[in-house]
Amino acid sequence: MSIFREPSCRSLPAGESSPTAVRLKAVSYGGIGAPALVLLLFLTSAVAQTDEFDDAELIDRGRYLAIAGDCAACHTSDSDRPFAGGYPMEMPMLGTIYSSNITPDAEHGIGDWSLREFEGALRRGVSKGGRNLYPAMPYISYARITDRDIRALYAYFMHGVEPQAEPNRNNDIPWLLSARWPLKAWNTLYLESGPYEVDPDRGEAWNRGAYLVQGLAHCGTCHTPRGIGFQEKSLSEQGNHYLAGGPVLAGWQAYNITPDDDSGIGLWTEAQLIQFLKSGHVNRLAQAGGPMAEAVENSLARLRDEDIHAIATYLRAIPAVRSDGGGPRQRQGQPSQSVIALRGKPLASDIGEDVDGARLYLGLCASCHGADGTGSEDGYYPSLVHNSTVGAHSDHNLRQAILHGVRRDIGQGAILMPGFARQLSGEQLAALVDYLRQQFGGRRGPDAPDRAAP
Ligand code: HEC
Ligand code: HEC
Ligand code: HEC
Repeated sequence: MSIFREPSCRSLPAGESSPTAVRLKAVSYGGIGAPALVLLLFLTSAVAQTDEFDDAELIDRGRYLAIAGDCAACHTSDSDRPFAGGYPMEMPMLGTIYSSNITPDAEHGIGDWSLREFEGALRRGVSKGGRNLYPAMPYISYARITDRDIRALYAYFMHGVEPQAEPNRNNDIPWLLSARWPLKAWNTLYLESGPYEVDPDRGEAWNRGAYLVQGLAHCGTCHTPRGIGFQEKSLSEQGNHYLAGGPVLAGWQAYNITPDDDSGIGLWTEAQLIQFLKSGHVNRLAQAGGPMAEAVENSLARLRDEDIHAIATYLRAIPAVRSDGGGPRQRQGQPSQSVIALRGKPLASDIGEDVDGARLYLGLCASCHGADGTGSEDGYYPSLVHNSTVGAHSDHNLRQAILHGVRRDIGQGAILMPGFARQLSGEQLAALVDYLRQQFGGRRGPDAPDRAAP
């Protein structure tokens, strides 16, 4: 089965010219004379020594796979110097670690790494020289990448990326906790080695989707709940908790994306799911903010249609998991009636010390999301009624969206919602969130079961 997409016409890479070819050439050019033959042999051996990874087609494939793997999300902190590393990541209980320079700079990057060393970092979490990497690098998922794709990625990072002479930053982890040997034990417990194996009972799209979701696209890194060792509880649909939702660092919550009707995305049509993955926006359903906006912007929006289709096929076929028992999150809630009385009157944008949720909504949000909360007619300003963030079991993402706003750019002009962190006191935020959840999200009572600490 050709789920990993063989290129349709493959020319023999330069490095693979065989000794037989040399002999044949020597024979057919036999009449030219000895000096020409020597020259010919010299040229052929020069060709044989060129780097087999310096192959335009292989590099191109690797570039696409690096997008599917969203390597830039963590390894690019300054867009002028792609893959130069230095991106900070909080490790629970340990401290801050910084991503590495993975450009082909021989001194500061990975320019002198062999294919085997590169493969070790991606699939086994072991750096050149044997140092164990922190699982902030998603090698748990990348372990699924096939040999063929590892080669293409290697070709791209060796020959398709500009070297950057940027030294790696030391991690801010207290010395006592900085030993890396516990990671070996962690890997023994939680790393399932071995590249993805095709399931012959499933179709091509399902297998391609499974390969991407479990592997390069590492959806489980954010969407699968974690166990006591901070490990993802399941790494494929064969486990019980796969993609059932979990906390993401920085206060966001990744939703349950299994096909459960209430806690998951079981009510989404295939077309809606595809539209969401490609653009991060489906009006009266969901919008991507925070880390998901980045995943859409840097990776999913740039994938081929057939790969997005494969991801959707797989997601819709995995077992449904009921997670939080909090009732449906996209079907409840009502447009606001009370504010209709205000039509035609200017909205008060000076909110002062007001702690009335409805008035805060009118003052800060209604200009875009509409006085009744159903958004603008063209859907650019989304409806907050039937919105997965407003109706969600936990209010984490709603708070994040209000405090930090939304920013997403997939090359068709940026989608922007301002953040209100500076305008709102803790009390005002709580009042606004309670109002939104009750009115538009259909969540009863202010003491929702899983309320973020103010
Ligand atoms: C979610 C964040 C994240 C993503 C996505 C990610 N990495 Fe990493 N990567 C890291 C971090 C953090 C480190 C450093 C870990 C450490 O110091 O223990 C790292 C380390 C590495 C290393 C080891 C470098 C060294 O000098 O030891 C390589 C190679 C690497 N990543 C390649 C990749 C490639 C290729 C991709 C895309 C297929 C990728 N990474 C995607 C976070 C990420
Ligand atoms: C870096 C973390 C991260 C990764 C990787 C990630 N997601 Fe998400 N995802 C999130 C967060 C956080 C949200 C909630 C976004 C919001 O409310 O604005 C989300 C939301 C979603 C939603 C909307 C669900 C709803 O009910 O509103 C879907 C669907 C989704 N992700 C699918 C995927 C798929 C498929 C992948 C892999 C191809 C993936 N995600 C990878 C963090 C992530
Ligand atoms: C200037 C216009 C504007 C204002 C004011 C505004 N928003 Fe938004 N809002 C947007 C846009 C644009 C989006 C993103 C649409 C998209 O993702 O396609 C958005 C998205 C959202 C989302 C979905 C985000 C997610 O991650 O799921 C929520 C919830 C939301 N807004 C609530 C609010 C609330 C509450 C207020 C008032 C405190 C507010 N907005 C004020 C324009 C605005």
